[in-house]
Amino acid sequence: MEIERVQDIACLSKDTIPEEFIRSENEQPVITTVHGVNLEVPVIDMSDLDEEKISHLIVDASQKWGMFQIINHGIPEEIMNQFKSVGKEFFELPQEEKEVYAKEPGTMEGYGTSLQREIQAKKGWVDHLFHKIWPPSVINYKFWPKNPPSYRKANEEYVKNLHGVVDRLFKSLSKGLGLEENELKEAAGGNELVYLLKINYYPPCPRPDLALGVVAHTDMSCITILVPNDVQGLQASRDGHWYDVKCSPNALIIHIGDQIEILSNGKYKSVLHRTTVNKDEARMSWPVFLEPPTDFEVGPHSKLVNEENPPKYKTKKYGDYCYCKLNKIPQ
Ligand code: OGA
Ligand code: NI
Repeated sequence: MEIERVQDIACLSKDTIPEEFIRSENEQPVITTVHGVNLEVPVIDMSDLDEEKISHLIVDASQKWGMFQIINHGIPEEIMNQFKSVGKEFFELPQEEKEVYAKEPGTMEGYGTSLQREIQAKKGWVDHLFHKIWPPSVINYKFWPKNPPSYRKANEEYVKNLHGVVDRLFKSLSKGLGLEENELKEAAGGNELVYLLKINYYPPCPRPDLALGVVAHTDMSCITILVPNDVQGLQASRDGHWYDVKCSPNALIIHIGDQIEILSNGKYKSVLHRTTVNKDEARMSWPVFLEPPTDFEVGPHSKLVNEENPPKYKTKKYGDYCYCKLNKIPQ
């Protein structure tokens, strides 16, 4: 069966959208967003010479928000622009050229549209492309677009520049738990940590008041490092309300995912977030999910649990965690 892409549906929809994209009232952005208030997600300047201060801010934001932005992170603007530009060019290719990279049943990587899993399921106004970008041993170039020709180079340059940021984040979070600076990353997969890129493409939507892009969720990853284009759309939940997150230009948006919440035994919080869509402009975002290998066991760090602090989460293989979450089976 041919799967309909939201990008095609968007071309046919002028003033209305198909029923399956209309969210129930308790989800519709027009009803559930706190308007006129932007959430002041912490903005952390990574070029501050006081490394202790940076660490402290990262730890504080990860406890209170599960989300923060980093600026002056050292990735050159040109590298980020190239990385975004080749992804945009891919989504602007004719549909049949994108379908060459279509996901096959049961695979995570490839071009696709989220399938419905619930009974009363609604669809998100978004298509995506998933592929791993690190380490080299897990990369399958089959899922990397050949067009534009500079796609591969631009992605490789971005990953190369991302490592430093990843290490700084893990070190700060590790020290914030009272661990040695390498211990948190080791417990998350160490050098086998997988970087999974997702490119989200949210076409213009005639009824952004009624539809959602990605529905409310926390990321399963350890940490997610996201770059958006300049169209507003990311929302975070605070005290049961939804707020627009204003992203600083050239910032990297950091999400604490479920695995860091688990490893920290609940000290750090994974952030509940979702996305809205725009009437006139396509929104895009490029999250990189930092994930343990599938067979790698993750649980509260052994140095953080004892008789007074029992584990609050089960220890299990990352693949099993994902299976349960995706199929809505209790962990
Ligand atoms: C996601 C996600 C946010 C965004 O794909 O997991 O939360 O800003 N995306 O597109
Ligand atoms: Ni997410």
